[in-house]
Amino acid sequence: MSVAVAHANIALIKYWGKADRALNLPAVPSLSLTLAGLRTRTEARLITGAEDAVTLDGRPAGGRPRARVIAMLDQLRARAGATSRLAITSHNEFPTAAGLASSASGFAALALAASHALGLELTRQQLSALARQASASAARSVFGGWAELLTGCEHASPIAPPEHLDVRMLVAVTRRGEKAIGSTEAMLHTAETSPYYDAWVSSAGALFTRGKSALLARDLPELGRAMEHSTLAMHASMLAADPGVLYFAPESLAVMHAVRELRGRGFSTFFTLDAGPHVKVLCPSVEAPAVAKELRALPAVLELLEAAPGPAAELLEAP
Ligand code: PMV
Repeated sequence: MSVAVAHANIALIKYWGKADRALNLPAVPSLSLTLAGLRTRTEARLITGAEDAVTLDGRPAGGRPRARVIAMLDQLRARAGATSRLAITSHNEFPTAAGLASSASGFAALALAASHALGLELTRQQLSALARQASASAARSVFGGWAELLTGCEHASPIAPPEHLDVRMLVAVTRRGEKAIGSTEAMLHTAETSPYYDAWVSSAGALFTRGKSALLARDLPELGRAMEHSTLAMHASMLAADPGVLYFAPESLAVMHAVRELRGRGFSTFFTLDAGPHVKVLCPSVEAPAVAKELRALPAVLELLEAAPGPAAELLEAP
């Protein structure tokens, strides 16, 4: 049996839109931070049955989640020249898991565990390219710390180690059990119907360069401003789709305003939102206790998770 763990990542500069749908190549460059604590643990074991067995968070998977796993296993089998079936058991060890994206950590851990079980020794770049085909953001979770996924590149690459900037990402959970529109569907809908999609794509390169330069210069306020700009520009492109894609909940807006208020009081706090209502807040780690206390006091915040920059995906010793 092979066991791998991988951590969720949050994009500071967002990926939204596909340059090639079949290959799942992003239309814009993105920059992310992998987060400690928000971890997926995946086991892969060769079995003798006629079909793969896929268990996600304790339940047999069906439909699209299962199909996405099998697609990756089929690719790996073709590469290994193998026909063996696998039993995949994956568990999200997120403190609440409520509506937080787990596909990034999930597919990064699956790529590592399943390739190892089939006897393949893939490079980080090959693992990242494999994960990207299932979910583009998963390409970044193969790496620890700060990573980028460039347009026209099949894999993500590390930019800086976790300790490069001493920050925390506070995840404000604002709703439970909401079934949002999936990111793939929402991206395609935005590209097809939003008059702002082309503007989003053409401005993304400059935004990425701004964010990456600020990161390399360890300029957290500038990185934070670029991060807010990226998420708001991404959501603006979706809001202008027909019908508009509205991931913001009233609670999300309350947290966004609170973050800006904290900034007015001298804190270096910045927000970002993905394809859901939760708000992720970036701040220097010295400010994290005070910012967390303020955010926990908001009626809009059901739960607050605190994450430090995290490590790369890795294989564990099988029990
Ligand atoms: O990789 P996907 O299909 O889960 O899309 C991720 C999209 C965002 O989370 C909104 C942005 C990003 O870069 O992670």
